[in-house]
Amino acid sequence: MNQTAPIIELKDLRKTFITKDGVVEALNDINVSIAKGEIFGIIGLSGAGKSTLVRCINLLEQPTSGSVIFNGLNLETMPNSDLLKVRQSMGMIFQQFNLLMQRNTIENICFPMEIAGMSKKQSRKRAFELLDIVGLSDKAKAYPAQLSGGQKQRVAIARALATNPEVLLCDEATSALDPTTTKSILGLLKKINKELGITVIIITHEMNVIEEICHRVAIMDQSRIVEMGDVEEIFIKPKSKISRQLIFSDETHIDTFVGEHKCRIIFDGRTSFEPIISNMILECKTGVNILFADTKDIDGKAFGQMIIQLPDQERNRNRIFSYLDSNNIPYEEVDDHVI
Ligand SMILES: Nc1ncnc2c1ncn2[C@@H]1O[C@H](COP(=O)(O)OP(=O)(O)O)[C@@H](O)[C@H]1O
Ligand SMILES: [Mg+2]
Repeated sequence: MNQTAPIIELKDLRKTFITKDGVVEALNDINVSIAKGEIFGIIGLSGAGKSTLVRCINLLEQPTSGSVIFNGLNLETMPNSDLLKVRQSMGMIFQQFNLLMQRNTIENICFPMEIAGMSKKQSRKRAFELLDIVGLSDKAKAYPAQLSGGQKQRVAIARALATNPEVLLCDEATSALDPTTTKSILGLLKKINKELGITVIIITHEMNVIEEICHRVAIMDQSRIVEMGDVEEIFIKPKSKISRQLIFSDETHIDTFVGEHKCRIIFDGRTSFEPIISNMILECKTGVNILFADTKDIDGKAFGQMIIQLPDQERNRNRIFSYLDSNNIPYEEVDDHVI
């Protein structure tokens, strides 16, 4: 994935807002390269700067400094006529769908094509094709008020695809949807990525969205990217505190367990936890307490973590560490202030 040419590069991007309460640093030192055809996730807590970042990508927001490069061309130095074309090659969908309430499904999808100057006949033909892609052919005449949240987002996706974009920017696109609908919308985004070759950028505060669909992820905290890499790698060994919080959101449980010498064992898709733990107990001839376990399925592979309480005797603890080392099982000792 990384070898393909980048479609979007952000270099030393900074964005500050001047408000009546002072200067707000929304983006700081942002350097990202997104490859053509990938599904790239940006995750962070509310206020981290995600929406500002995505708005800088399509220049809805002017960066304070740094550059946005699209297909090798710097957007800042580009003539306005070309900028318009670049904007049309970036579709966008939002949490609130932003459909026109007085227009039915087909008319909503036709809207950007009309603005781009396409004939009514041509745009309606294209709108019906798009409706078919998003699986909503039977709702052509329905008004937004007659559609469910998931159906509204499908219309918004069809509308975003109307100008044949190369990139689809999704800002919290599933945050207003229930888990089942979220899954089906993410499935549709995957299909669009695969079948139409559109690069997808997903902004979310939910790790399960990243797990479900993204190839790579950038983790944002307080206006900066604190970690970036393949989703699997980051799940196996999150480095920053914020990544741990986002990935192991249930970890607060361990707080309630007293005692020292806790260890996190990481499951990276090569093995399931049953044999590891039973063999460890057999080989090390020492008992362990499982404090917490959570495994997930990512792309058909088992991932997850388990937190165990290690024995008090150092000798026994070392046996466990060498067992884990010799079996190539990632682990780390944890203490309460990491949690
Ligand atoms: N137009 C604006 N004017 C002033 N401050 C803004 C503006 N847009 C965003 N911010 C501030 O920038 C920071 C990042 O916001 P945002 O990008 O919306 O974060 P996120 O999408 O991760 O929740 C926040 O502190 C927010 O209050
Ligand atoms: Mg936001």
